[in-house]
Amino acid sequence: MSKLIEIRDMCKIYNPGENEVRALDHVNLKIDENEFVAIIGHSGSGKSTLMNMLGCLDVPSSGTYILNGQDVSGLTDDDLSDIRNKDIGFIFQGFNLIAGLTALENVELPLIYRGVGKKERLRLSEIALKKVGLKMRMEHKPSEMSGGQQQRVAIARAIAQAPPVILADEPTGNLDSGSTREIMDILKGLHAEGRTVILITHDNEIAARAKRIIRIMDGKIVDDIVNEKFSA
Ligand SMILES: Nc1ncnc2c1ncn2[C@@H]1O[C@H](COP(=O)(O)OP(=O)(O)O)[C@@H](O)[C@H]1O
Ligand SMILES: [Mg+2]
Repeated sequence: MSKLIEIRDMCKIYNPGENEVRALDHVNLKIDENEFVAIIGHSGSGKSTLMNMLGCLDVPSSGTYILNGQDVSGLTDDDLSDIRNKDIGFIFQGFNLIAGLTALENVELPLIYRGVGKKERLRLSEIALKKVGLKMRMEHKPSEMSGGQQQRVAIARAIAQAPPVILADEPTGNLDSGSTREIMDILKGLHAEGRTVILITHDNEIAARAKRIIRIMDGKIVDDIVNEKFSA
């Protein structure tokens, strides 16, 4: 297996100076292709900060980030946004769908930004929506769907163009237990078909569904284990 992600000695300091917050404190982390990783920690432990780094949404104060063979630590905003488009599928707690667009149009949108033609866009979007079990809801707007269905649209949007990394920050945080199970089953299925899934959560039960569990506390990785109970 090849290294997909390598973080070396990364620090993130907010408000440098007297009131500084060391949100990431000398973090080292390697993730291979096709891993299914949960990053778990209490509120304020640095999970979202780490997600922002992994997703090229922010830059570290120091340290190195190598993604898919490329050192992205020193890149400009424009280059980082290209990498986000190409290499990372994001899933957020709040779904972040566009209210005025149908499920299909929401999934199509990032493909438009990537310059994918109309026909191919439709094909990829339909495949992705089918994969999350929403073929019959393609023409529905977010307000016409349950929270679980909206999150499935967001997953379809994240996977439509097969990015090497899928990053999910508390994806089930707003969902009931039934929808949570559905979303976790979909993430597990994505891992089973060879994708790399990184799941950020504060919930032990959710983390226990992943194959590797990394614990973060006060900006430091304090535990990194293989989940013996994981079943493929
Ligand atoms: N933009 C910011 N400015 C200042 N402090 C921040 C900022 N974002 C996060 N923090 C602080 O950094 C620490 C880690 O936050 P965060 O990564 O959001 O944790 P988590 O996602 O685990 O709850 C917290 O102490 C938080 O208050
Ligand atoms: Mg957070």
